[in-house]
Amino acid sequence: MAVELVGGALLSAFLQVTFEKLASVEIGSYFRRKKLDEKILKKLNITLLSINVVVDDAELKQIRNRHVKAWLDAVKDAVFEAEDLLDEIDIEDFRCNLEAEPESNTGKVWNFFTASSNSFDKEIESKMQEVIENLEYLASKKDILGLKEASTSCNQVYKKLPSTSLPVDSVIYGRDVDKEVICDWLISDADNVNHQLSIVSIVGMGGIGKTTLAQHLYNDPKMEDTFDIKAWVCVSEEFDVLAITRVIVEAITGTRNNTKVLDLLQVKLKETLSGKRFLLVLDDLWNEKRDQWEALQTPFNYGAPGSKILVTTRSLKVASTTRSTKIHRLKELEEEHCWKLFCKHAFLDENPQMNPDFKDIAKRILKKCHGLPLSLKTMGSLLYTKPSLVEWEVYWVVRYGTYQKRRATSSPL
Ligand SMILES: Nc1ncnc2c1ncn2[C@@H]1O[C@H](COP(=O)(O)OP(=O)(O)OP(=O)(O)O)[C@@H](O)[C@H]1O
Ligand SMILES: [Mg+2]
Repeated sequence: MAVELVGGALLSAFLQVTFEKLASVEIGSYFRRKKLDEKILKKLNITLLSINVVVDDAELKQIRNRHVKAWLDAVKDAVFEAEDLLDEIDIEDFRCNLEAEPESNTGKVWNFFTASSNSFDKEIESKMQEVIENLEYLASKKDILGLKEASTSCNQVYKKLPSTSLPVDSVIYGRDVDKEVICDWLISDADNVNHQLSIVSIVGMGGIGKTTLAQHLYNDPKMEDTFDIKAWVCVSEEFDVLAITRVIVEAITGTRNNTKVLDLLQVKLKETLSGKRFLLVLDDLWNEKRDQWEALQTPFNYGAPGSKILVTTRSLKVASTTRSTKIHRLKELEEEHCWKLFCKHAFLDENPQMNPDFKDIAKRILKKCHGLPLSLKTMGSLLYTKPSLVEWEVYWVVRYGTYQKRRATSSPL
């Protein structure tokens, strides 16, 4: 019984992960860029929502009703399939961004990748249609099975919160070298020979830790010593020059500004920045339109030499739209750091004393996170609430299929 309850509870958790992925800017922009049918995403979202509202009820009823259990198992498979497809799109999107770099953008290599990308798109569209049809079929059976809607608030669609300059976690794993390299770029005067504005971009996949690294850099004492003015602005998908300029003015002056005239805002910004060495972080940038970027950056040219803009973005194209003077690609974390990050969230201790059974399954789960801090943190936090080995094994079976047990113990430590 405990096993089934855990399985159901985990399905709810995985549904939230799928909603999160569906709502990600990356997936939406991939569909728009490739002119794929965006209705597919909406349909998938609606179908999953209609299933999500009865999952809690199904969890309880599966214990006594084998039809409900079979239904829940089928839903589980379909949700994981949907999640895998979204992951594939994520990876393809990142690959396309790499291939779109100028040095690869020539001749046969480019033609090959364009062709393979087109066939990927066709295949993914048809696979998603299949998954939706399957989910729609399963959703249509919920009334026959007598499944009722749960009156909880956990069925809301995930919305990413805007970042702030304060890091969520005080400890950052495995980023010493990245931090040092970018820190040197930020405090250096080397780019300023032509009095050009220097833009440093951190580029990497969603959840790899770009914002976290930028936060730790922003709060480093060296930045206080180097810059007269610092400001942090979370940009995200919508690139509205007036609105962003207003937020930047507010962040720099520390006072509210309701002006709707871009010129007034830009003049204010120019006056405030003139002769001052500033550091501006633009977190989560998505804009690929050069003219929009130029319109935003004009006042920044009045800052003192050595001023910097630090951008975080998932896309190399965005980094090149800003004409970044330096680009730093953030890579997956190495195993040693993955282990510490995962254990910190699963056991509240980065070096826990653990029996071999727990170590074995923890290592297997860790491998599935592919060095992504967000996945490691999510998995660790999810498993923190499941203190016994059997729950971890159930987690494994629900998510990845069979699990060959070595020997049983009941406590992780
Ligand atoms: N090196 C790290 N050590 C510890 N925790 C980390 C590390 N990097 C990231 N995290 C944690 O992982 C989560 C995701 O990181 P972050 O938000 O920085 O990713 P991101 O690359 O900015 O993603 P997105 O593209 O969606 O904005 C955060 O909650 C953060 O606390
Ligand atoms: Mg971020």
